[in-house]
Formats: sequence, structure tokens, C-alpha cells
Amino acid sequence: MAKFRTLDDIDAAGRRVLVRVDLNVPVRDGAVTDDTRIRAVAPTITELAGKGAKVILLAHFGRPKGKRDESQSLKVVVPAVAKVLGRPVAFADDCTGETAAAAVSALAPGEVLVLENTRFYKGEEGNDPEFVKALAANGDLYVNDAFSAAHRAHASTEGLAHVLPAFAGRSMQAELEALDRALGAPVRPVAAIVGGAKVSSKIDLLENLVTKVDLLVIGGGMANTFLAARGVDVGKSLCEHDLAETARRIEKAAAAAGCRIVLPEDAVVAEAFAANAPNRVVTLDAVPAESMILDVGPKSVAAVVAALEEARTLVWNGPLGAFELEPFDRGTVAAAREAAGLTVAGKLTSIAGGGDTVAALNHAGVADKFSYISTAGGAFLEWMEGKALPGVEALKA
Ligand code: 3PG
Repeated sequence: MAKFRTLDDIDAAGRRVLVRVDLNVPVRDGAVTDDTRIRAVAPTITELAGKGAKVILLAHFGRPKGKRDESQSLKVVVPAVAKVLGRPVAFADDCTGETAAAAVSALAPGEVLVLENTRFYKGEEGNDPEFVKALAANGDLYVNDAFSAAHRAHASTEGLAHVLPAFAGRSMQAELEALDRALGAPVRPVAAIVGGAKVSSKIDLLENLVTKVDLLVIGGGMANTFLAARGVDVGKSLCEHDLAETARRIEKAAAAAGCRIVLPEDAVVAEAFAANAPNRVVTLDAVPAESMILDVGPKSVAAVVAALEEARTLVWNGPLGAFELEPFDRGTVAAAREAAGLTVAGKLTSIAGGGDTVAALNHAGVADKFSYISTAGGAFLEWMEGKALPGVEALKA
């Protein structure tokens, strides 16, 4: 794994430390509804404050596209940050200029300040050197603890690392170490479970994975595209028939790389995409023309379980069926529980990420039993695609 400077290497006492965090959290009626990302960065903030740093948090919120927009102000997130940290947190309603400078100079060692949404300025997404300079004016050191924004080459995620001494925060460090265990230098055999609706959104990911993993379990709507490409009549199921050639190309690449693809062997079908819609289990040669596949069947679950038992490392992105609609959550829940059980028994290192995946594992009640759950969405996918993440590259020592 590439070398990063971490908080172990930082001499923070009395220094102004700009910490890039991901505070892009869901908010409803003025309150944060899921503070997972805040909890993820709390150890870094607490550690730096404990070392006597003046901790200045930089973050984006939503996509205001370079303009001030009060509905996307970070102010609403500050009480949740204070609650998670268990200490007062100041707020400045600008991230550069006099307002920010005044708030920073008012900070005592060990205090924490949130600066306003960096995306209120065009220079953030443009990674404009002048804007980078304006941000850097408020810091002596830079810590990036926002893996989930590391796929963006923005001023606060990438640019700052070139103008200030740069360090990986604890959450970034944990993420990079976990990802390295999954695909960098994994214990083999490595299995991947990839699900979700569409092949079209995960072509690069599948093409990268077949060269890295030993077993690739494909589920969810995207499995239908692979099945149809093999000649299975999938009825009214979600299916990208125009991607049949792509599916065949991925299967060929897998065969050439020695990666075994595990596709569903049976399916749970229904005529309506609705919770508790009348449903039944069918073999793949008997999907009724009027039905759609909404989950994997019991034989498929058994095949996934067998694949997991064979594996020593698992990387998971995407549910195996329409898990948000009962009872079409069964395949995903069964696979999640199996992976969790093997992890707890010390037989499997399990790493999962991506929005739906985390929701699915929470639904199965096993998220805390996986070896590592990434809080990242897009960044996790780009990492699974084998892409270099600008925010991570810039931290390499
Ligand atoms: C996320 O929510 O996945 C990150 O904060 C990145 O947000 P973005 O997709 O707006 O860059």
C-alpha cells in the first residue's frame, strides 16, 4: 500500500489544522437524520483537539454549483456535529475571507470550527489555485478525512494537499487500509457480490473486478441482463437488452482471467413491483411472460452461501433483489447474514460500500458485523472500478 502521513506524524499543538470532512449528510425538517458520516470523522477531530490543535472543518453540502444558497448552508449540520463530539462547535458563514479569518483567529487550542459550504464558490469544484490559496490562508496543516469525497479533484479535497503539509485523517486511513485488504493485497480466494438495478452504471466496475477477484456473484436487476444475454427469457423483468454484448464481453473477460461468475439459478417472481405482491419461486426456464424477477431464489442463495464459504475476502456492492420491498429482501438478507456469520467466526474479511448496500446490510441487521463498511457512495464505486482517486493520490507521501 502507498505511504500516507497520518495523525501519528502530525505535530498539531497550537496549529491551525484544516480538516476536510464529509458533512454531506441527509437532513429533514432542519435536522440531520443520519449522522454516520459525522461519527466517522469524530475520532480525527477529537484526537486533533486533544493534541491542542485549532480544528477548522471544511466540507461541502449538496450541489449549490458555485453560488451562495442558504438552503444548502452547513449551519444546519453544526448542532449534530457538536452533539456527536460532545463539545461546542463554532460556525462561520463563509469559508474564506474576513469572516472565516476572524472566526479562525478567535479559536483557542482544542476548539472546533465549521466553515461554510466550500461549494458556495466556483473555485471549489474548479480547483482554482486562487481559491486554494484563500482556503489555505486559514491553516498551517491540512488533514483529509473525507474518503467519500476523494473522487472529486476539488480545491478542498485535492488542491490543498499541494500547498499545505498534508495528512490522512483516521477515517481516511481506516478506509484506505480496509480497501487495501479487499483488493490491494487480499487473502484469496476473493469473492465480490455486485448487485443493483443496472449493468450500465457498473460496466467499468465489473470489468475491473473480473481481473481482481476469484468469484463474482452478480445479483439484482443487473443479473437479468446477464441471464438474457445467455438466452434466458426474463419476462417483464428489469433488463438492459441492449447490453447483451457487454454482458458477454464481461463473461469472456472473466473466463480469461480465471474469475468464476455466479449468476442466479432460480428466481422469485411477481407481477407487481410492490411489497407483498403475490409471488413464487421459479426455475430460470420458467419465468412467466407477465412476471418480473424481484429476488434470487433459494437455490441461488445456496450458491451464494457456497461461494462465501469458499472465499476468504469479500467485497460487496449492491443488493441481490428488491430488498426495500418485503419479501423480496430474503436473498439479500440471507447472503448478508452468511457473510456476517463467517466474518464473526474469523473466516472472512468482509468489506461493503455504496449507499444501497449499507441500507441493505442495516436492514439485515448485520452492518456492525462486517469487517468494514465504507461510508462512501461514488468514491467507493470509483475505487471498485480501479480508478485513482484524486483526493487520495494527493496525499501520497
Ligand atoms: C457523497 O455524498 O457521496 C459525497 O459527499 C460526494 O458528493 P458529490 O457526489 O456531490 O460530489
